[in-house]
Amino acid sequence: MNKSRRTFLKLGAAAGAFTVTGFPHIWSKNSSFAYAQGGEIKVGVLFSLTGTTAIIEESLNKATIMAIEEINAAGGINGMKIVPVIEDPASDPATFAEKARKLVMSDKCVSVFGSYTSASRKAVLPVFEKQENLFWYPTLYEGRECSKNVIYTGAVPNQQQDDFVPWLVEKFGKRWYLIGSNYIYPKEENNYCKKLLEGLGAEVIAEEYVPLGHSEFSSVINKFRSEKPNVIFSTVVGDSVVALHRQYRAAGLDPATMPMASLTTSENEVAAMGGDAAAGHFTSAPYFMVFDSPENKKFVEAYKARWGGDKVTHFVSESSYFQIHLFAQAVAKLAPSDIGPLGIRDAVKGEEYKAPQGLVKVEPDNLHCWLRPKIGQCKADGQFEILQQSADWLEPNPYSAYPDQKCTSEGLKQI
Ligand code: ACM
Repeated sequence: MNKSRRTFLKLGAAAGAFTVTGFPHIWSKNSSFAYAQGGEIKVGVLFSLTGTTAIIEESLNKATIMAIEEINAAGGINGMKIVPVIEDPASDPATFAEKARKLVMSDKCVSVFGSYTSASRKAVLPVFEKQENLFWYPTLYEGRECSKNVIYTGAVPNQQQDDFVPWLVEKFGKRWYLIGSNYIYPKEENNYCKKLLEGLGAEVIAEEYVPLGHSEFSSVINKFRSEKPNVIFSTVVGDSVVALHRQYRAAGLDPATMPMASLTTSENEVAAMGGDAAAGHFTSAPYFMVFDSPENKKFVEAYKARWGGDKVTHFVSESSYFQIHLFAQAVAKLAPSDIGPLGIRDAVKGEEYKAPQGLVKVEPDNLHCWLRPKIGQCKADGQFEILQQSADWLEPNPYSAYPDQKCTSEGLKQI
């Protein structure tokens, strides 16, 4: 046992005495001892069950709950049950921040799993940084962030675009139309796309952003028709994905000559719009529901058994699922007295897990994950055909669009 562990155990014993005599506040703020008591460990689950991104976040909640139930059914973490505290932040960043404060400060959760949009992640970040708690974020995002209080299990731009953009240029051509929802994620993601396109001698003929929740795409589609881009690169999110695809199809445009190439359209949005509206378009992601692996077969079967045979899995529900298993692996490595947000953060560095997409790993230097990029084309049955997959896992580079900056274990470095 090392020195710090001994010190902690002594503190723990003292803390117990204070609890009995009625002064828990003297020790409890971020004491590891407080987080694993009575054979239980409490975690927050913070995904929107209402509002414009509920279409996707509701499935992230389901995958998270299923993983927690799976671990508890197998005996918990070293006998400790994971107890989820579920909140609905209603697709509203301010409500995200309010609920995050409740989960961390009132409920005393040791970690919180949640959020889809980068706007909601940015809203909760100060809570986790100030309280030295730990947020687990499963969603693909724009990178350019380096928090010591977040484990990022979704893809960053290099993991979705490095293979995808050159592949699309070669297959379809060099005139690109960038369409996204109007907030930080699409703008930063497009910054990287534009760099890649420039390097390939390709041209951005339009870059356009629509409000979150936008549902009327006729003027956008008229521009598609008049500009005739070779590729429509979409970072539209939420309900708008459904509206965009349906209206594209209703306008009679043809994915064979003007495909949409998305980083956000998964089996989940496709189920909502109907396979006909998505057929022929492309998505880059580390996971597709059809991926052939024993781990994925088990994941898909368990998900359908738990939530209904008509339900689909997708690349953000998969990371929502595997990040719970990474959490459990990290907690399992710790003595009960060491279980706390930062102890878990340190224990998960370098941790590997055989996920449905293949083996993944938490990069110790930046707390993002090594993932396995794939390119899929949607079919009318609502599933993707995997056309290409990376030969190996790909390192996360959260600063791929900013080569003079690097996220390191010491924080952001200018290089
Ligand atoms: C996103 O906002 N990170 C999809």
